[in-house]
Parts: sequence; structure tokens; C-alpha cells
Amino acid sequence: MAGRRAMTKTKGDPDELPKAKINREALKRSKRLFSYMGKHKWKFYLGLVFLLMTGVTAIIFPQLLGKLMGQIGVTGVSAFGSNEAAEAVSPEKLVAVLKDAANRYGLWMLILFAVQAMASYGRVWFFANSTENMIASLRRAAFGHIVRMPMSFFSQQQAAELNSRVSADITQINETFMTSLAEFFRQFIIIVGGLGMIFATSWKMALIMLVIVPPVAIITVLFGRKIRNISREVQEAVAQSNTIVGESFQGITNVKAFTNEAYEVDRYSKSTQNVFNLALKSAVARGLFFAFIIFCLFGAIMLIVWYGVSLCIDGEILSGDMISVLFMTVFVAASFGGIPEQYAQLQRAIGASDRIFEMMDMAAEETQKATSHKIKLEGQVRFQEVSFSYPSRKDFSVLKSITFQAEKGQTIAIVGPSGSGKSTIAQLLLRFYEPDSGEIFFDGKQAKAYDLTALRENIAVVPQDVLLFAGTIRENIAYGNPNASEAEITEAARKANALSFIESFPDGFATKVGDRGIQLSGGQRQRIAIARAVLKNPAILILDEATSSLDSESEHIVQEALDKLMVGRTSFVIAHRLSTIRNADKIMVIEKGNVSESGTHDELMQIENGLYRSLSRLQFA
Ligand SMILES: Nc1ncnc2c1ncn2[C@@H]1O[C@H](COP(=O)(O)OP(=O)(O)OP(=O)(O)O)[C@@H](O)[C@H]1O
Ligand SMILES: [Mg+2]
Repeated sequence: MAGRRAMTKTKGDPDELPKAKINREALKRSKRLFSYMGKHKWKFYLGLVFLLMTGVTAIIFPQLLGKLMGQIGVTGVSAFGSNEAAEAVSPEKLVAVLKDAANRYGLWMLILFAVQAMASYGRVWFFANSTENMIASLRRAAFGHIVRMPMSFFSQQQAAELNSRVSADITQINETFMTSLAEFFRQFIIIVGGLGMIFATSWKMALIMLVIVPPVAIITVLFGRKIRNISREVQEAVAQSNTIVGESFQGITNVKAFTNEAYEVDRYSKSTQNVFNLALKSAVARGLFFAFIIFCLFGAIMLIVWYGVSLCIDGEILSGDMISVLFMTVFVAASFGGIPEQYAQLQRAIGASDRIFEMMDMAAEETQKATSHKIKLEGQVRFQEVSFSYPSRKDFSVLKSITFQAEKGQTIAIVGPSGSGKSTIAQLLLRFYEPDSGEIFFDGKQAKAYDLTALRENIAVVPQDVLLFAGTIRENIAYGNPNASEAEITEAARKANALSFIESFPDGFATKVGDRGIQLSGGQRQRIAIARAVLKNPAILILDEATSSLDSESEHIVQEALDKLMVGRTSFVIAHRLSTIRNADKIMVIEKGNVSESGTHDELMQIENGLYRSLSRLQFA
């Protein structure tokens, strides 16, 4: 039970993606990302121009607003709220001048908004267009590279891990390019431009702002982050506690059989107590955060307002300018607060692209269909003192100096205990892995001398559990040869004893097989796999326990199809049920990576104390 309790950590939170340091080296590497934009780069640069425009308009806005609002509250010539008021002499003229100015600033703001609206649209559109182009080619390149990686790579990687390379990592880059990068630049423009504007208006206001705003903004951000961390802890604790419930009910027979009800109840109540404690901790933090915001953040703003008003009264600053400065302060503060988050996003994106490129720089197999010319093997196979251990477990030797030869068209049966290395022989035949020592020959020529694609086109496998792709029966059969004609597909289905069940479906060949083919029975899937192999028309056939998961009736139908398929091909039949391989030209018994016995059925039955003989006796008894 200890084992399954350990696996409750919630994964997949984007915040959990590791970050990379941003330095010149990292920026140089991220140039490679840009190269995937190809001929769409100009759109990115145009997006940058629009971005700059939105930044500039954001700085102009508070100034116009201040000017507009500066026109109110001016009751007499003595209290000048604006430059324009100072120019006026008589009260009537003052009103007219004020109104005129208000209209003018109002109109300018309207124009400003129009410009900003256009620039925002342009920025989003051009960034999205260039980024989506980049992401699409990056996804294609990453997927294209990963599927061409050798099996030794896949045997050391979890499928889920690879999935997240292509999905989560690239999505992170996507989001960063679409929003974070733009936000980062915009906030940078606002901070620099806004500070410049405030300094130009009133250096006293600027100084007090610089003293107050950054610390408050930083504390707010840190506080917010702390709260997020606590919330995540709460979520994880809840998930963990839910896991206990799920496990207990799923494994209820275990719980009862071991009379561990009290133990599970205790486990669960401890975990709910933990949730409760964390939730309280989170509540305290959130309460403090609100208190902090109200007192410190609003307090700080009011302090600046109060100071501005004092400056106003002293006549050091116009009220309109003060309003501009105040609005600008809020903008700058908000940008200060946003920068750390955008920066973190940039770091994550660089980390993500590093991981992707690291993988894309690994050597792939040379399976370039387009460039290889076809070859037609005769089907003679020879293993010459082949030794092998899997790359993920180098110190465990799976095959120990195996030697055998299969003549063209022969049937070679491979039997032996589970884990003895039978399937491994099949993997080496397909050149999924290379032997550590020894040599494999096809038609007397070294396996390495053949083009990988050309070689694999001559070998077909019918495995024990056939994995079909979600799609139609026709598509799944055509996987054996995508260029096959309709007539060839039907013929292949007939040879595979599959035609009658396919035609019994209302949709025939267009029947959807469902995810991984779950809408078909095991025997039906097997026959689809055989039809695939028929279409491929290989010289060499590998049947890895092709019938062992079937009941005797479908086994009979499938075996019949297999027998037809094997005619004229060199076939390697891995089987546990010895009845199916009795007539093989040669039977090899594999034990702990060695060929311990080899010969025909009759020859092997002669061996006193032989494994084959004792197994046969057991099975036929
Ligand atoms: N991808 C892999 N990485 C590391 N070790 C592996 C891998 N695949 C198989 N092995 C190990 O290699 C040995 C031989 O495995 P193999 O699959 O060839 O056995 P088998 O004879 O086909 O057994 P079974 O009858 O159960 O199918 C086993 O000890 C197994 O644990
Ligand atoms: Mg096996």
C-alpha cells in the first residue's frame, strides 16, 4: 500500500514547468525558435511596431485625461487649474475657454482611443499569426523528429513525457509568444515612459512615487505568490485525500480481506485534518492580503494624492498635471506588479524550448521513405553469435551469443519460458535495436548494409495484442500499404478470414473501430492485423503469440488465416501453445537468452529431460 500512496502529486500545473535562466546564451538559443517563423517573421516585427504604439498611447492617455479633468474646479482666475484658465481674464471668457479646451481634449482622447484600438488589434493579429505559424512548424518538426527516433530512445522515455514535450512545452512557448512577450515589452515601455513623464511633470512627485510604489508593488506580488502557493498546497492535499477514497473503494476487496477498515478510516481522517489545517492557513493569508491591500496599497496611493494636493495648494503643480501623474502612477505600479510574472513566463518558455531542442538534436533513425529505393528480400535469415542487452538495462544480458539460420520460406518456431528473450529476437530482426556483438544477416548480407526502411518493408509482425488506430477498418488494413487499391484491400481481408465479419457490419469497411480498436473483438483485431500483413506482402513474417489471447474457436479461424499468410514466407512463430507449431521446420527452445534445444518436433521429443519434451507432455496430457 505504501507504493500507491506515493503517487498522489498533482502534475501538469503550468507553474510547475521548470524555468531557465535568461542570459545572452539563452537568448541566442531562442533565436532558433524564431527560425521556425520562416517567411512570417515580418508579421512579428510589424506586431512589435503596433505593440510600441499601444505602449505610447497608454502613456499619452493619463496626460490627456489630466488635461481634461484640469478644466473642472476652476472657479476664479486666482485658482488656476490649467494653463488655459490662466490665459482667461474675464469669468465669461474663462467659461468659454474652459469649454473649448474640454471639447478639444475630449476629441483628442477619442482619436487616441481609435489609434489604440487599431494598434491593439494589429498587435494581437500579427503576433498571433506569426506565432501560430511558428508553433505549427515547431510541432510538426518536433513530432516528425520524435517518431523517427530509434526504439532505444522510446524504451527509455515514458510516452506521457514525450506527449508533454509536444503538447505542454510547445503550448507554453505559444502562450509566452502570444501574450507574455508582448505584455513584458508593453509594461517595460509604460514603466520607462511613465517614469519619464512623471519626472518631467514634477520631480518631487516622481521621487515620492519612486520611494513608495516599487516596495509596495513588490510586496503585493510576493504576497500574491505566497497565497497562490498555499492554495496549491490545499489543492494537492484535497487531491491526495480524494485518492485515499478512490483507492479504498477500488480496492475494497483488499481492504475487507485484510480487515483494514479502521486503518483506512484513520488514514482518511488524518488527510482531511491536513486539508483543514492548510485551508485555515490559506484563509489567514488571504485575509491578511486584503487587509494589506486596503491599508498599504490604498494608503500609499492616498499618500501620493495627499502629497500632490499639497503641492497643488502650494502652487507648485497644476491640478490637471497632478491628476495625470496620479493616473500614470497607477499604470506604472500595475506594470511593476506584472513584470515578475511575465519574466517567469519567459523563463519557462526558454526552458521549454531548451528541452524540445535538446530532443531534436538527438540522432534519429535513417528512415527516409522518400529517398530509399525498394528491395525485395528472399527471406533467408541468419543470427551469428548475437548478444544483446537493452540500453535501459545494460548490465542484464538478454540474449547470449545466439546462432541460428532460417532458410527462405521456412517456419521457425521459438518457444521458451516467459522472459527468456523470444520477443527480443523479433525486435532485433526488425532492427529496433542493434546487437551488442555478433551479426544478423539477411540473404547472406549484413543487416547493417541494408537501408532501414527498405529492410523493414520486407518484414511484417502480427503481435499478441493488436493496436488499431481510431479510424475505419479500411484505413487500418491500408496501414500495411497506404497505396493499396480498394480491390487489394478487399482481397487482403478475404485472405485474412476477415471479409465475412467485416461485411456483416452495416458500414462494412467504413466501420469505425473506436479508440485503439476497442469496438472489435480480439479475434477480429487479430484478423485486421493479418490483413495488414497480407497487404504488406513481406518476405519475412513474425508472429508473436498471435493467437494466444483468443478462445479456441477464433483461434481456429485466425490460425487458418495465419497458415495461408505463412505460405512462401520465412516465418518466425513465437508460441506458448505447442500444438500450433508442431509442423514447424525447426523449433528453437530459448532459455535465459540461450538456444538450449533446436530441431524438429520429433527430434526434440527424443531428448531425455529436454524442456520441449516436458512442456509437450504437460500440454498434451
Ligand atoms: N524494453 C526493455 N527494456 C529493458 N528490458 C527489457 C525490455 N523488454 C524486455 N526486457 C527484458 O528482456 C528479457 C526478455 O524479454 P522478452 O520480451 O524477449 O521475453 P519473452 O521471451 O518474449 O517473454 P514472454 O513469453 O513473457 O513474452 C526480460 O527479462 C525482460 O524483462
Ligand atoms: Mg514476448
